Formats: sequence, C-alpha cells, structure tokens
Amino acid sequence: MSIRPIILHPDPRLKKVCAPVDGVNDEMRKLAEDMLETMYDAPGIGLAAPQLGILKRLIVMDCIKEEGADPQPMALFNPEVMWMSEALNTYEEGCLSIPEQYGDVNRPAEVMVKWIDIDGAACEAKFDKLWATCVQHEIDHLEGKLFIDYLKPLRRQMITRKMVKLKRERARA
Ligand code: NI
Repeated sequence: MSIRPIILHPDPRLKKVCAPVDGVNDEMRKLAEDMLETMYDAPGIGLAAPQLGILKRLIVMDCIKEEGADPQPMALFNPEVMWMSEALNTYEEGCLSIPEQYGDVNRPAEVMVKWIDIDGAACEAKFDKLWATCVQHEIDHLEGKLFIDYLKPLRRQMITRKMVKLKRERARA
C-alpha cells in the first residue's frame, strides 16, 4: 500500500464526471487500498478516486471516530443512491481537497446506497448520521461536485481564493 498525493481545489480534475469501474480487478483493489491508506494518513473519513486524479467511480470511507473503536474501512465501487429520506441533517463539512475550510451543508439524513465491494459482490445498505453525509459527499465527488458548491456564492469564492493562495505558496515551497 502507498500514500498518494491528494489533489487540491481548484483543479479541473475535481470538476469531472467519473467513469464507472468495469470489473474489480487487482489494479482497482490496489487503488482502493491506497485510497484508504491515504485517507487514514490525512487524516480524513472519506476519499474519492478523483481526489487522487483518477476519474473512476470509487470511494472509500470510515466514519468511526471514537477512540478505541474498531476501524470500519469501506470501499464502494460504482456507488449509487437508491433512496433518500425527506428529513435533512446538517453537518459542518470539510474536504481533503479543500484543507482547513468548513461549511454547513444540508443533506438527506438517511440514504439507501448500492455498490460493488472489493470482492466484486453487489451490496446495498442504509446509511444514517455522519455515514449518510459522508457517502453523499463522496458520491458528489464522482459527479464533479464539491461541498462548497452548496454554500453561498460569496463564501464559495472566498474559499476558492484562499485555496489558490495556498496552492501558490505550496508550489513555491
Ligand atoms: Ni471531499
């Protein structure tokens, strides 16, 4: 397994619609493992393949945050939201591609998602609480959508300006 660099916003690769994964092969399994390692290292609770510059429909997550609790790594290939609750939930979201910037986002409180797992098996599960927000945030990445797209334009522009500055500073370092 290896940690790969995470692409920072703004970047055209984060605005693309990703292609379905056809068949979970060794290369795709390796990518999922690298994504999990990169996510834990960051640290974060979710990561989507386009954040590593790979425009494929693959996300990983682990929303277990309690100290001492067993980790629950998940890799979801071709995830699809099948149903969402009318009830909404608000979380202050962040993103590994937009470090140190946060904003409140309203999303359905519960979602039913289907996907293909790392063994190639078809899965379906209901997610709630932080898991529901995280899975929707990550699936948005596969559509080229970021959490800042839900914020007011002024706030979004402010965050993007800060990110442009941060990227310039990092490029110089
Ligand atoms: Ni994100």
